[in-house]
Amino acid sequence: MGKQDDIFIEGNLSGLPFSFNEEVTEVFEDMIDRSVPGYKTSVNLVDYYSRQYSRDNSYVYDLGCSLGASTKVLLDSVNDKNIKVISIDNSAAMIEKCNKLFSSYVDEGRLELKLEDINISEITNASVVVINFVLQFLDRDKRTLLIEKIFKGLNPGGGLLISEKVHFQSDRESKNISLLHHLFKEKNGYTKMEIAAKRDSLEGVMVTETEEVHFQRMNRVGFSRGEKLMSNLNFATYLFIK
Ligand SMILES: C[S@@+](CC[C@H](N)C(=O)[O-])C[C@H]1O[C@@H](n2cnc3c(N)ncnc32)[C@H](O)[C@@H]1O
Repeated sequence: MGKQDDIFIEGNLSGLPFSFNEEVTEVFEDMIDRSVPGYKTSVNLVDYYSRQYSRDNSYVYDLGCSLGASTKVLLDSVNDKNIKVISIDNSAAMIEKCNKLFSSYVDEGRLELKLEDINISEITNASVVVINFVLQFLDRDKRTLLIEKIFKGLNPGGGLLISEKVHFQSDRESKNISLLHHLFKEKNGYTKMEIAAKRDSLEGVMVTETEEVHFQRMNRVGFSRGEKLMSNLNFATYLFIK
């Protein structure tokens, strides 16, 4: 585990919008663990479902890989198959750290790490695609295009695992669950001031959608079936099959 996240301990001093820069990269593991209810379960679900859906002689993708929590699990779960893992992130700091963490897998040719905007990445011959807590950071008008590209790149029967923070159709429910999420963060040692400062810095950077919007998009794009695997407060993991 990297350094403890104390970036917002004295408020959002920089006043800058949130970004996955070097400072965030250093504390990222602690940040995501203390901020995202069910995060470890979402990673375990990648393990379980990638074992079921990955196929010999294909690629599996981890889009927006950050420090490679899912990448690590994918490498283990496809170990006995002829599969290359392709992990992509557009944060130079994240990919630099991944290059250190996973150098042996890269050397063996089992993993390709790409510093790239996933909006322009090529996705091909995929049996599994993982995109965990990333779509929420993309421009809204690019999200459907990306999901269409993933759909085209997946082989028939392939699986897309997606985790997102969501909000709810009812404002009252969104407010209540958001309050519970703040309590979850307080229980994990964040102060009210840190929580408020991070919320402000994420304003306009992370834009959530409802579960209904996610399902409508996946249906429109053509996924034959989809299901919610897990939800924990306002965070959820889904599986969609081509
Ligand atoms: C919340 S983190 C993802 C966490 C990671 N998937 C996990 O489960 O540990 C979001 C990541 O998406 C990356 N990201 C955001 N927009 C991106 C884009 N357009 N192309 C590539 N990566 C992007 C960020 O740099 C960041 O590392």
